[in-house]
Amino acid sequence: MFSTMRHHWLLLGACGWVLLILMFASKFINFRAADNYGEKTDAHSWTESGAHQGARPEAVDELDRPDRPDPKPSYVFPPTAAPTPSDWQWVTERRMELLSAVCQQQNATLRNLTHVSVSRFVLDRIFVSDKHKILFCQTPKVGNTQWKKVLIVLNGEYSTVEDIPENLVHDHDKNGLPRLSSFSPQDITERLHTYFKFFIVRDPFERLISAFKDKFVKNPRFEPWYKHDIAPSIIRKYRKVHRDLASSPGDGGSPGAGLRFEDFVRYLGDGGEGRRRMDRQFGEHVIHWVTYAELCAPCEIRYSVVGHHETLERDAPYILRAAGIEGLVSYPHIPLGITRYNRTKVERYFSGISRRDVRRLYARYQGDFNLFGYPSPDFLLD
Ligand SMILES: *[C@@H]1O[C@H](CO)[C@@H](O)[C@H](O)[C@H]1NC(C)=O
Ligand SMILES: *[C@@H]1O[C@H](CO)[C@@H](O)[C@H](O)[C@H]1NC(C)=O
Ligand SMILES: *[C@@H]1O[C@H](CO)[C@@H](O)[C@H](O)[C@H]1NC(C)=O
Repeated sequence: MFSTMRHHWLLLGACGWVLLILMFASKFINFRAADNYGEKTDAHSWTESGAHQGARPEAVDELDRPDRPDPKPSYVFPPTAAPTPSDWQWVTERRMELLSAVCQQQNATLRNLTHVSVSRFVLDRIFVSDKHKILFCQTPKVGNTQWKKVLIVLNGEYSTVEDIPENLVHDHDKNGLPRLSSFSPQDITERLHTYFKFFIVRDPFERLISAFKDKFVKNPRFEPWYKHDIAPSIIRKYRKVHRDLASSPGDGGSPGAGLRFEDFVRYLGDGGEGRRRMDRQFGEHVIHWVTYAELCAPCEIRYSVVGHHETLERDAPYILRAAGIEGLVSYPHIPLGITRYNRTKVERYFSGISRRDVRRLYARYQGDFNLFGYPSPDFLLD
């Protein structure tokens, strides 16, 4: 009798220690994960860091389902060890849990922003490597050219990403990367169920700035339709004062000629049928600014990994490993610092834009912010 009680107490004591160690380890992981990005203040990389959890208690409840066993041993590693790939597995698993929790929320407004049908448009976004059983959903302005090169190398025509001619990457008739839409319904379903599936995201507003610069200011790939067809349509419908000829940073220096970021934001923030009709006219070109949810249907398709541009140095090798292709190909060199979130840039672009327009923009992109754990840009909304 006495000895069984002693056993109980010993067992209880041991459990207490294990719990303490787990708590310590998880604190340490959070701290180090934030530290790795060198931008703790923005907390801008993944989601489980404090501010966010507080803001979304529902999501946390989802994660605490009773049927789930207590912290898995695989989350725990010695605090003294150097970062290993398993740290990153922990991070990506938390991201996928958040994604699934947000997808399950019942709020109708939010569901409208996160749930889409797996349409032809979505199947067109997904590139297939049958050889390695990989599906990659393209999210423009998030380093996708490099991932396409990786897949082209995997398909065997070129031996390194550096060998691929730049103009071939986006030539979908010649680059040997079929779209998922080109398969039969049966083959599509089979691939969706069995292949490794991934895509990459970045801060939604920074992506819009990047799209604006790339298509309407610089336009380096000589795609005249952005400036000559799309920009004038947007200006006609969304510029407030048409006779205002003042120059702005967005028009490349020619007074009154080009689209301004302000016009672009007003167009994107229009949740109504007018904008949808315009988008249908613009066709595929809207892929540079429609939401990630509209591009990749992340609540309908069970992706294996969603990488973050802000932490690409960790995500790229992790994805190659998880997809079973490390050693066959390497991700191109990532210049130091280019993937970092730049709040100064975001503030500068949004500085002349009315709170009302920013709020409307956020209302349309909120699904993307929530699904992928980007903090709401309160510094623009307050
Ligand atoms: C639903 O979500 C929207 C957008 O996040 C929010 O504004 C609204 O208050 C939510 N409604 C309910 C009932 O929670
Ligand atoms: C959801 O979207 C549809 C059309 O896209 C719209 O008619 C409906 O009012 C939206 N519902 C909510 C709650 O926003
Ligand atoms: C952030 O953006 C600002 C404004 O565009 C730029 O001047 C600055 O160099 C950028 N910072 C970094 C670290 O890239």
